[in-house]
Amino acid sequence: MSHSTPSILLVGLMGTGKSTIARQLSTRLGIDCLDTDKLVETRSGRSVRELFAELGEGAFRDLESEVLNECLTRQLPSVIAGAGGIVVREQNRDRINSARDDDSVVVVWLHATTDVLVSRTSKGVHRPLLDDDRVGTLTRLAAERADLYADVADIVVDVSHRSVESTVNLLIDAIEEGNQEKSANNE
Ligand code: S3P
Repeated sequence: MSHSTPSILLVGLMGTGKSTIARQLSTRLGIDCLDTDKLVETRSGRSVRELFAELGEGAFRDLESEVLNECLTRQLPSVIAGAGGIVVREQNRDRINSARDDDSVVVVWLHATTDVLVSRTSKGVHRPLLDDDRVGTLTRLAAERADLYADVADIVVDVSHRSVESTVNLLIDAIEEGNQEKSANNE
């Protein structure tokens, strides 16, 4: 199946601003915004925190795979904020890469230094994985997941010192450039 306008999937560690950037990007592009954590919460009737505490990380990851698959199967293009751990399961990476292969999604890896992530995750949404040792866990996850994000990414943006607005502008330019290249190749 080939799509004329691809969806955009944002991936990256907790604190990179995926949800905020996804919302603003979707408004600018005039397409829907989906957020895998929010979809998991709606489906389960539990917050991410409750899911981890009551059913365990495995049950959370099962739901996450389910909603990712649905987001990528959707006919209407959307901006999808993927939760930080979306790349951990091989089946998810395979699903993302098959959507990339049929041009139905463009994947953006939002990357930031651990210092920046530590500061950004100290406020806002509760992240159960960071309860015990924020600095150590973010350092470990950055090392463990770098190759996994790289395996699915079409575009990499370092957001360490970049505002949300500047990131959104940069992504719009990159996406338009990619679309122009594609239509030139198809002529
Ligand atoms: C997680 C990231 C979180 C949330 C959960 C686990 C992870 O989402 O899904 O706390 O494994 O990196 P955000 O990246 O949206 O904070």
